[in-house]
Amino acid sequence: MQIITAKGLSKDYDSLRAVDTIDFEILEGECFGFLGPNGAGKTTVMRMLYCFIAPTSGEIKVFGMDVTKQPSVIKSRIGVMPQDDNLDPELTVLENLITYARYFDIPRAQSAKIAAGLIEYTGLTEKTNVNIKSLSGGMKRALLLARALINNPELLILDEPTTGLDPHSRHNVWEKLHGLKSNNTTLILTTHYMEEAEKLCDRVAIMDSGRIITIDSPIHLMDTHGGNLENVYLKLTGRWLGE
Ligand SMILES: Nc1ncnc2c1ncn2[C@@H]1O[C@H](COP(=O)(O)OP(=O)(O)OP(=O)(O)O)[C@@H](O)[C@H]1O
Ligand SMILES: [Mg+2]
Repeated sequence: MQIITAKGLSKDYDSLRAVDTIDFEILEGECFGFLGPNGAGKTTVMRMLYCFIAPTSGEIKVFGMDVTKQPSVIKSRIGVMPQDDNLDPELTVLENLITYARYFDIPRAQSAKIAAGLIEYTGLTEKTNVNIKSLSGGMKRALLLARALINNPELLILDEPTTGLDPHSRHNVWEKLHGLKSNNTTLILTTHYMEEAEKLCDRVAIMDSGRIITIDSPIHLMDTHGGNLENVYLKLTGRWLGE
């Protein structure tokens, strides 16, 4: 069953068409990846999916609801890890999570418990009462992941979840995302790491200049075009310099 359908979706920033008339469907329980060079439009698509910005034209339905008509219901059922760190710099790790839980009307006693569990889950226990300003970049990414899970979402939208992480932390995140997927959470992610897309994604959309070049499974793409996913990506985005 489709959890998301996008039809004729476009987004303009003044005269720039950042997303240009794209169509895609994402199925319940799958892991779907958006790949593409810097500026391709991936984050713009994510932002429209989680009702942060409105499409200029076209339509997106999440859980069968239009993002422009029922954003609050949609937001209550999804978790979002944005590309940029938008944590509250005045608060500690624990306070950031508890404050965020308020948006979902989670009672304080319950949110403190959930937050403590997520802090442990993401390996931040030692930093529980530390101010955000004292966290490393990788720790902030971990906290953003914890925060995205606070409402036990059915759908998780992750914009470059492992950028800036060391190899060990990256593998940890992959393991967690695998676990969530086994629990039937639908995952949508963007990444510049082809290994990540190959390991996690059932299907990927390769984007460039606001358009989707192809949507397919990594395995089928590699069979069709030859080589690994990086080769396929470079060929399809016209950045291939090989023989
Ligand atoms: N708020 C904004 N105002 C104006 N232009 C924007 C805005 N956000 C993005 N853009 C432009 O839209 C285009 C797509 O940007 P977007 O952030 O979606 O790309 P991306 O694929 O996520 O890139 P990256 O891999 O670097 O994160 C770019 O040309 C960018 O400069
Ligand atoms: Mg981006």
